Amino acid sequence: MSLSCFDLSVVYGQRTALDHFSLTLEKGEVRALIGPNGSGKSTALHALAGLIKPAKGKAVVGDMPVASMSRRVLARELAFLPQQPTAPDEMTVAQLVRQGRYAHVGLFGSYGPEDEKAIDWALESTGLSALADRSLQQLSGGERQRAWISAALAQQAGILLLDEPTSFLDIGYQVEVLDLVHRLSRERGVTVVMAIHDINQAIAVSDRISLLEKGKLRFDGRPDELAETELVQQIFRVKGRFVRMSAESPPHFDVELARLRETTA
Ligand SMILES: Nc1ncnc2c1ncn2[C@@H]1O[C@H](COP(=O)(O)OP(=O)(O)O)[C@@H](O)[C@H]1O
Ligand SMILES: [Mg+2]
Repeated sequence: MSLSCFDLSVVYGQRTALDHFSLTLEKGEVRALIGPNGSGKSTALHALAGLIKPAKGKAVVGDMPVASMSRRVLARELAFLPQQPTAPDEMTVAQLVRQGRYAHVGLFGSYGPEDEKAIDWALESTGLSALADRSLQQLSGGERQRAWISAALAQQAGILLLDEPTSFLDIGYQVEVLDLVHRLSRERGVTVVMAIHDINQAIAVSDRISLLEKGKLRFDGRPDELAETELVQQIFRVKGRFVRMSAESPPHFDVELARLRETTA
């Protein structure tokens, strides 16, 4: 499913959190949303998911404006994992993941074989089958994060919006989540927008990158094009450079930390 938004602006009180933001994704594209804290990444995802009403502009799923779709109809097309999702502590992993199917189950909430299959697949894809009966409060931060990813996967929507899905995960699970995102896009044609802090992970997993600063889109293009600019250094106020291990390998942002080492030595 394609996803786009045009000229989206979101205002909180006096503050413009998102300023004329546009984005177009083809089916199966992976887009990384990067930018400093407070630059509007979560706001953009909420607006795409139809969870905040923009002051201006619109989001479109396929050829339907998000604002015209009911929650249930939208949930069949689009799954959103917020940055800090909440659920009752007593809820089990299996219950949470089952909730991901709510848009699919019938009026009387009966789960069919298709639903069970989707739930099993979602648990397995996130390595949680053995923990299905644990309550959320009995999980580590990383396991809980995976349980939420699993619930989003169970929804089996054509569009997946993920807000910093790898935070709280150790590097092994970070790579696993990125690998899963890559496979969903390539094997199932899932369209993904993911807010992510790690520039190199963004480069590795995405077809295109959108870079936000103070609610404004500063860059929209391929990772190798971003590496040709000085925008990362300017916007994040860091010293560093893009390097390549070989001509074929993707650019890698090498941030300068030597100064810190000098002062602590
Ligand atoms: N519910 C809210 N009410 C008021 N201001 C908000 C709200 N949510 C976010 N903001 C502000 O909007 C800006 C963008 O926030 P956010 O989208 O969360 O950024 P990011 O996800 O890139 O860190 C920030 O200045 C933040 O303080
Ligand atoms: Mg955020």
